[in-house]
Amino acid sequence: MTSLRLLLVLVLLQFAGLLAWQDYKDYKVFELKPQDANQLELLRQLAREQPHWDILGTRRSYNESGLRVLVAPNQVNSLLKQLKTHHIEHQLLWNDMSLLLRDQRAENERSKSRSTLPFIDVLGGFYTHAEINEYLESLPQRYPQRALLKQFGRSYEGRALKLLTINNGDGRRKKPVILIDATMHAREWIAPSFALYIIQQLLDHNVEHAELLKDYDWVIMPVVNADGYEFTHTDSRYWRKTRKPTWDPENIGTDLNRNFGYEWGHDEGSSADPAEEIYRGEHAFDQPESQVVRDVLLHYSDRLDFYLSLHSYGNYFLLPWGHTSAFPSNYFDMMEVADAGAMAIVQATNGIYSYGSGYHLMYPTSGDSIDYAVGVANATVAITMELPAGGFLGFDPWVSHIEGIVTESWVGVRAMALEVIRRYQTRS
Ligand SMILES: *[C@@H]1O[C@H](CO)[C@@H](O)[C@H](O)[C@H]1NC(C)=O
Ligand SMILES: *[C@@H]1O[C@H](CO)[C@@H](O)[C@H](O)[C@H]1NC(C)=O
Repeated sequence: MTSLRLLLVLVLLQFAGLLAWQDYKDYKVFELKPQDANQLELLRQLAREQPHWDILGTRRSYNESGLRVLVAPNQVNSLLKQLKTHHIEHQLLWNDMSLLLRDQRAENERSKSRSTLPFIDVLGGFYTHAEINEYLESLPQRYPQRALLKQFGRSYEGRALKLLTINNGDGRRKKPVILIDATMHAREWIAPSFALYIIQQLLDHNVEHAELLKDYDWVIMPVVNADGYEFTHTDSRYWRKTRKPTWDPENIGTDLNRNFGYEWGHDEGSSADPAEEIYRGEHAFDQPESQVVRDVLLHYSDRLDFYLSLHSYGNYFLLPWGHTSAFPSNYFDMMEVADAGAMAIVQATNGIYSYGSGYHLMYPTSGDSIDYAVGVANATVAITMELPAGGFLGFDPWVSHIEGIVTESWVGVRAMALEVIRRYQTRS
């Protein structure tokens, strides 16, 4: 191709990119201040009735003080009317989200341009699924004895879902496993960053972390919801679900973390309505991406001591069960693992994590991956880690905040892994 034609194609591609990008022009953010449990319950109800008002926080904690809602310009009047009717205190925080997103994109592009694939600087940017895969593919060559890359399946749109196994190269096979996945929810960008940071710690600093790898293999899947994640880079920054169409032509996507086949659809822990962010799908495992995680969990089920699913945000270690107020039989052992993580973090940075069963700490959830990991795949310990909030809506930390979040989080994950190893390594 001549360079002129190449240039033309590039310009057109960039133009197409601009057209596809939902720029959130004049989208507004309000802070809502519910005064009591009744008002909070009302907001939770509104969040379900009006799924297109993205009321952040209503599904997080009854005690969260500052809820935020992101609304399209044409929805502002009806939101304000509802708030007035129910006497809910509120204030406009941000008048035009497009400005913030433009700055964030510029920061990311500027910062990323300093690293050259396949090497990436985890602390210097948020990477796309394709960039992350390119990096993962380079690892077995760089660490032939210690890194093994497998493909376990493909996303709905055909993206390769990769799984990296890290060991210490001693040749011992079938060690017990610490399994980590990230990015079931597309917009939670700090999650894949943290998964990559863990990979770099274990590979580049393997001597320092010898204890973590002596009797355990680490298996890491940085991007589960590859289509949704890509969509947050190309089209819509706050997309959460998958990209597979539903029976409802108006709504695309399923919440992967409500799609797992253990007590799927139980009570109020998920939604049958494709308009909602917690839509569970038509059947358990009707999403190729949850099938992949299921297959990985089952593949390691006879030696899975620790399953950690990375999400954001909120500073929680959520344990099973999500679907019932009852507790799994080794709940208090799991609590001690979470306790080790929380204590290590508070000592290191004064960061505060809450921990306990998802049902009690947050709200009922059904069909989530930790319930499946313990209920079906016999994981010894399973934890959903809600990483700290960043940026304006919690999901959108600035590049400059990545380092602080991932280094703190690593202190916690390392401490939890050491506690798991201390408790269960005699089995190996
Ligand atoms: C959360 O709110 C409930 C009800 O108002 C209260 O009983 C509880 O102590 C609060 N928990 C925390 C951690 O603040
Ligand atoms: C989990 O453990 C139970 C009880 O020991 C066993 O029957 C079941 O087959 C195990 N599940 C898997 C996936 O191996």
